[in-house]
Amino acid sequence: MEHQIKNADGKLGVLIPGLGAVATTLIAGVETIKKGLAHPVGSLTQMGNIRLGKRTENRNPRIKDFVSLTSLEDIVFGGWDVYEDNVYQSAVNAKVIDRHQLDTVKEELEAIKPMKAVFDKEYVKNISGNHVKKATHKYDQAFALMEDIRDFKEKNGCSRLVMIWCASTEKYIEHCEVYDSLEHFETALHNDDPRISPSMIYAYAAIKMGVPFANGAPNLTCDIPALVQFAKIMQVPIAGKDFKTGQTLMKTILAPGLHARALGVKGWFSSNILGNRDGLVLDDPDNFKTKEVSKLSVLQDILQPDLNPELYGDLYHKVRINYYPPHGDNKESWDNIDIFGWMGYPMQIKINFLCRDSILAAPIVLDLALFMDLAARAGMCGIQEWLSFYFKSPQTLEGLRSEHDIFKQLMKLQNTLRHMMGEDMITHLGLDYYQQLVESL
Ligand SMILES: NC(=O)c1ccc[n+]([C@@H]2O[C@H](COP(=O)([O-])OP(=O)(O)OC[C@H]3O[C@@H](n4cnc5c(N)ncnc54)[C@H](O)[C@@H]3O)[C@@H](O)[C@H]2O)c1
Repeated sequence: MEHQIKNADGKLGVLIPGLGAVATTLIAGVETIKKGLAHPVGSLTQMGNIRLGKRTENRNPRIKDFVSLTSLEDIVFGGWDVYEDNVYQSAVNAKVIDRHQLDTVKEELEAIKPMKAVFDKEYVKNISGNHVKKATHKYDQAFALMEDIRDFKEKNGCSRLVMIWCASTEKYIEHCEVYDSLEHFETALHNDDPRISPSMIYAYAAIKMGVPFANGAPNLTCDIPALVQFAKIMQVPIAGKDFKTGQTLMKTILAPGLHARALGVKGWFSSNILGNRDGLVLDDPDNFKTKEVSKLSVLQDILQPDLNPELYGDLYHKVRINYYPPHGDNKESWDNIDIFGWMGYPMQIKINFLCRDSILAAPIVLDLALFMDLAARAGMCGIQEWLSFYFKSPQTLEGLRSEHDIFKQLMKLQNTLRHMMGEDMITHLGLDYYQQLVESL
């Protein structure tokens, strides 16, 4: 059954808390692409195809031609940061995109200036900017963010908005009673409770304003019952958490393959060095813990040692992140994987990925912005599990385990699009039409 999807008419405002390396790489990329000077490589919405119907039908349109998505021309960017730098200055500081390439879109980038942030150094110790809101009470901060959202929409003539958290990783926190229900959460907000983090305030403000919210960092943010409940009430899509790039992307590509062939895995040691501001933030043990928990969850889910203790029961999984300024945004990761095969004979796999963190993250932010907007126009609300494909630690309904296998995640995403558009699901069975094919030959 085809969903009633509202058209993507008018402008889409993409609001980003945190105009650092990832956000500026996205914005500079979109502006460059709009001028025809680069391709949106890595973006499924822009470059991916989707098979429709049987293989014999040869229908493989681009996703952007299959579902109604906002065109890049209709996107307007805005955001908040604790530093005053405009997007051009911030992109220069991030050193991801070459200066000569940035200069081709200098004017567009300079025009985007961050709004004052809601910030709490208790949650991110290793940075200190002074471009922050005057309001110190958490409820007033939420209110100020709602005003920003309203003003941005009006000034830029947007018909719709989405918000994607690209700000620093906050310190590790665990679930507590304040997050249990909307009522508790709102009481805590009114009481200026220190357990409400800045990212939760942004998420709350977005949901209250009917703006879809996705979380690119591993912080809890909207992954708490209170905000899941709120998103349902307000009919707003939410998703998270932690963009799946670099080492975890590799892990969720490789581990399903080993598992598919029933090969054993004894150990997986992952080490990283990176020197950007994200690396500096993660140099603090409290902030690293948030990232570590997110990165560790992946293998357990894919390999499921409880179902197959002979193959994965002894798995030792370790993740290390080290701050190393000379590498900047060009993260380098090493994985040593101890596997075993027939009769238990050991083998090793070594991966040395010289990646560019923000180059991998930028297309994810673009896709999430466009798909979250699509979800809203299709009347979908609450957790958008079909977007797990983009996250290291996909948010699911309470009680459901997350799916980390990238191929299953892709199938779910594509089937959701087919379902939205009234197309048949693809099961890869084929038996239903083989006979017909044989007879027609
Ligand atoms: N690059 C990747 O591959 C990748 C992958 C997964 C997740 N992430 C996450 O994405 C986020 C952004 O990464 P990045 O490399 O751009 O980091 P970055 O440090 O370059 O940018 C983050 C920006 O957020 C700002 N900030 C911090 N707290 C804020 C607040 N409360 N309100 C507004 N702005 C705030 C900082 O000043 C900074 O400019 C990080 O949380 C990171 O862990 C990145």
